[in-house]
Amino acid sequence: MEANSASSSKWFCSICMLLFLILAAFEVAHCSVTYDRKSLIINGQRRILFSGSIHYPRSTPDMWEGLIQKAKNGGLDAIDTYVFWNVHEPSPGNYNFEGRYDLVRFLKLVQKYGLYVHLRIGPYVCAEWNFGGFPVWLKYVPGMSFRNDNGPFKVAMQRFVQKIVTMMKSEGLFQNQGGPIILSQIENEYGIESHSYGPAGHRYSDWAAKMAVGLNTGVPWVMCKEDDAPDPVINTCNGFYCDYFSPNKPYKPKIWTEAWTGWFEDFGSPKHQRPVEDIAFAVARFIQKGGSFVNYYMYHGGTNFGRSAGGPFITTSYDYDAPIDEYGLIRQPKYDHLKELHKAIKLSERALVSADPTVTALGNYEQAYVFSSTSGGCAAFLSNYHSNSAVTVTFRNRKYQLPPWSISILPDCKNDVFNTARVGVKASTAQMVATEVKILSWQTFSEDVYSLIDDSSFTHVGLLEQLNVTRDKSDYLWYTTSIPIRSTESFLHQGRSPTLTVGSSGHALHVFVNGVKSGSVFGNSKLTFRGGINLRAGVNRISILSVAVGLPNNGAHFETQSIGVTGPVILQGLDEGSKDLSMQRWSYKIGLKGEAVNLDSVSSSLSVHWVGGNLMASRQQPLTWHKAYFNAPAGNDPLALDLSSMGKGQIWINGQNIGRYWTSWAKGNCGQCSYAGTYREWKCLSGCGQPTQRWYHVPRSWLKPTGNVLIVFEEIGGDASRISLVKRVVN
Ligand code: GAL
Repeated sequence: MEANSASSSKWFCSICMLLFLILAAFEVAHCSVTYDRKSLIINGQRRILFSGSIHYPRSTPDMWEGLIQKAKNGGLDAIDTYVFWNVHEPSPGNYNFEGRYDLVRFLKLVQKYGLYVHLRIGPYVCAEWNFGGFPVWLKYVPGMSFRNDNGPFKVAMQRFVQKIVTMMKSEGLFQNQGGPIILSQIENEYGIESHSYGPAGHRYSDWAAKMAVGLNTGVPWVMCKEDDAPDPVINTCNGFYCDYFSPNKPYKPKIWTEAWTGWFEDFGSPKHQRPVEDIAFAVARFIQKGGSFVNYYMYHGGTNFGRSAGGPFITTSYDYDAPIDEYGLIRQPKYDHLKELHKAIKLSERALVSADPTVTALGNYEQAYVFSSTSGGCAAFLSNYHSNSAVTVTFRNRKYQLPPWSISILPDCKNDVFNTARVGVKASTAQMVATEVKILSWQTFSEDVYSLIDDSSFTHVGLLEQLNVTRDKSDYLWYTTSIPIRSTESFLHQGRSPTLTVGSSGHALHVFVNGVKSGSVFGNSKLTFRGGINLRAGVNRISILSVAVGLPNNGAHFETQSIGVTGPVILQGLDEGSKDLSMQRWSYKIGLKGEAVNLDSVSSSLSVHWVGGNLMASRQQPLTWHKAYFNAPAGNDPLALDLSSMGKGQIWINGQNIGRYWTSWAKGNCGQCSYAGTYREWKCLSGCGQPTQRWYHVPRSWLKPTGNVLIVFEEIGGDASRISLVKRVVN
């Protein structure tokens, strides 16, 4: 009897186990993400999804949770991030996934808040990020050609993409493993570039798609702005508006991978803003025309810390006029108005995914899009495309007021619960408020312009391209050469100065003659310094400090763009006429002395001779290092340095590189914000003549309670003693 019951319970267990396995398998199959022409299908359900870009290295890990929580409260379903190859693999085969680069930790936090992930692996990302996300060493792999049907490139790209996918799988992060990733991107906006690569471009794009699909992630892949994306890869749209967009096959959903909430800035450029009415209108237009996935680029832009900004000239702030500002604070009315939009669309979700719209004209500029079915109920979008006239329309025997350039959403085909142009939220004002913090004990150290030829320099006949020499170990490269001047030269006796012309490919040049500054110029590609210089009888030394301000991040073959002193270098006004110095012997020195002795890292900051005093700090000398100490202010308000008294350079706090600053390049091209109801005038500008970026984010988590070390390297000349620490307060 007992034996019998034991064996029957064994049977029972086996059957249970079998049932469990079948159910588990069913569940796994069920968890995969697929799509049809209407939308992504998750757990068997069509979904209308809102997503927002938050790039993990553009904030600090202690900020991540707050940002994600705000994204969730703002009505987002997903977070979108690029993966930044150059921070993860700084040298071939050496990986870094720590701190701000801890991708897995970031994604697990997103999962903790019940949000999905769109992982844009690229690995080309554009993103205003240094070199578009490619490590600089990649350029120097023999035979390399980026984003091309090129053996070395494809090997390296596949290795990195595989590495990320394997990491995601081993952490169980794909949706079919119970993880948050529902979508992945390969490449980025290749369609526009591919023409420059001819048939090879097409072969590469095809290869990239197949390679990605072959990694069997269980979630769909997208290629943004790539009309030729081969099945099953979905081609998607990026832009200010995307309602006109159709995927390349009728069975693919209409996905908007970058709905631009504002725009980025270059040093010297105006500040960009996009009115929320216009974004909301663009999103509603997209949804009414059958769109089902919208990602806001950016939802939180953040900060280009260190030398991560692309370029040239992308600012350290990547605020983007996003719904969450650079400092992690909510920007109103952008945040709440979009939240209301999401609610209205979510109320219409069943109707939207279940039916195709019936479109009827309600007037010359007015239309009704009605989504109606027995399974999904009825939702309607009433639109007024006139850019400055409000109208009253009649829909199903009821009257509706439609402001210009707006859409009303009726989740039950009756009640107008939201209109894109009716903003019921008060605008927030952000202020930078003084803190009680004193920045004390200023000390300075002048970069040595006299002894640039030492053990760490080398010579070469002719001019070398800058990146080929620095490999981006530093922004700075010294080019030095000598010119002997006979005492009989006429200009010495006539009070004339010879003219020096220096041809460069960018981005900034500071010219010194015999250790004395002759001038500076800034610009991209064709950049020329021209000026009279003081030469004396005997040997004269011309030293040019060439400065990179962010490596290019877009354009076909961007890796072949030159920077630095590329020539010609010509001296005019000598008795022999003009003298071409380009093919002389030049000596090269990578980086600054201050960098070499690691002034930027706290421990070795004592290894040069600092001179103390506020007076020294205020002397406005070029190429000067400044150091001071401060205690962290009380409270939790985000912090920033006000650098309006400075010119151009870099800042470090406790050894962490805050980023490049450039306050002497004031923004031009200012105009008023004239939101005319179209996207014609989206540059709402203010503060004409002010620096594009005056404040530089200091993450709280980089500070100790007391004795924080601030190091500033100033290229042009500034008054460091007037630098102050401010807090950001939003009302
Ligand atoms: C897009 C690109 C993004 C970003 C954006 C501008 O074209 O895909 O990575 O560069 O432009 O912010």
